[in-house]
Amino acid sequence: MLTGKTVVIAVTGSIAAYKMADCARELTKLHADVHVLMTQNATQFINPITFETLTQHKCLIDTFDRNFQYSVEHVALAKAADVVLIAPASANVIGKIACGIADDMLTTTVMACTCKKLVAPAMNHNMLHNPIVQENIEKLRRYGYGIIEPARGMLANRDIGDGKLPDVKILIDRVLQEIAKPKDMAGVKLLVTAGATCEPIDPVRFITNHSTGKMGAAIARAASLRGADVTLVAGSCTAEMPPFAEIVNVRTAEDMYREVTARAPEQDIIVKAAAVADYTPEHTAEDKIKKSDGEMAIPLRRTKDILKALGENKRAGQLICGFSMETRDLLENSSRKLKAKNCDMICANSLRTEGAGFGTDTNVLTLITADGTEELEKMSKLQAADMILDRLMEMRGK
Ligand SMILES: Cc1cc2nc3c(=O)[nH]c(=O)nc-3n(C[C@H](O)[C@H](O)[C@H](O)COP(=O)(O)O)c2cc1C
Repeated sequence: MLTGKTVVIAVTGSIAAYKMADCARELTKLHADVHVLMTQNATQFINPITFETLTQHKCLIDTFDRNFQYSVEHVALAKAADVVLIAPASANVIGKIACGIADDMLTTTVMACTCKKLVAPAMNHNMLHNPIVQENIEKLRRYGYGIIEPARGMLANRDIGDGKLPDVKILIDRVLQEIAKPKDMAGVKLLVTAGATCEPIDPVRFITNHSTGKMGAAIARAASLRGADVTLVAGSCTAEMPPFAEIVNVRTAEDMYREVTARAPEQDIIVKAAAVADYTPEHTAEDKIKKSDGEMAIPLRRTKDILKALGENKRAGQLICGFSMETRDLLENSSRKLKAKNCDMICANSLRTEGAGFGTDTNVLTLITADGTEELEKMSKLQAADMILDRLMEMRGK
């Protein structure tokens, strides 16, 4: 995902420095070209050899080290960087950058960089809440630095407080958000539904389906990496929720209908990828469930049709995309759905195809629009999400 991108990690003298070995490793796994800068004090916490082995690049510490590949290393690296991640950022380095001090390799390179700079402050609770440190952080924010908010938890001295370096995953997600994809969806408001609804029969049992939410979550993730303003209305999901999307958790089809239709008018694109139960028990009170000979007969009623409601209330310029999971007559049923629900695209998949449908990391989709059908090969759900978004963005441009 980061092929061809250069990520500069700037590590300072914080106890959390050791976590950056994992961060460097994860970024190289995403195929980024990773370079690590350290302050002299950071080398007290983690050995540069660790980073050099993981990144296959010399770890830069001393501005006046003559043993460099380039003559003016800090300028060369500053030019090459697509993003700089200053993590953990000590109170000292935050203060230096905020005051324009460049007295070592790390601060000099940061000052020479014109790309986006992300700062992850990590320090003791009282240091973090020191008004001077807060003012320095605000100053960096004003100058366009992205601040990765410190987490709350057990700090190095075993106090519970603010100032913990967030999980490596959060750091990586911020890097991905900056540089993984061109921001062709900036300004686009997209709502996507994901997962299964659960229809309670009684306080113990419920009707649901096998949806894990992976496809909807992949669409939300891909759209937010492309700069869209994403709302994810999530039923029961085992898929990991994407960062940078507003998550609205719902349980029943009725909840999902309410949350989606309330937000629909302001959306540019709506993708219904959730598997909403078609039926819900008519009565949830135990006394209404008829029992005869040990068998239960539960009266059911149809749930509201979310896609149909969206199609009926579609505003000019809005695009609506639904999913269709069929066991037979895939194209006929899906094309019928396109018209009947006034959708702009139906993503059809057969539950009989290997690598498609619920729970898998891959999907095999046919995209159906008024212009025709496009069969996609088997691909990851994240790749499929990008294909769907590509087509929807092309339709928006028309
Ligand atoms: C064990 C230990 C842990 C430290 N952890 C932090 C920390 O998490 N954050 C911080 O801002 N300073 C921390 N410090 C203080 C910094 O190392 C100190 O301010 C140093 O001058 C920072 O140097 P640098 O900013 O050039 O890397 C710690 C010091 C010690 C001895």
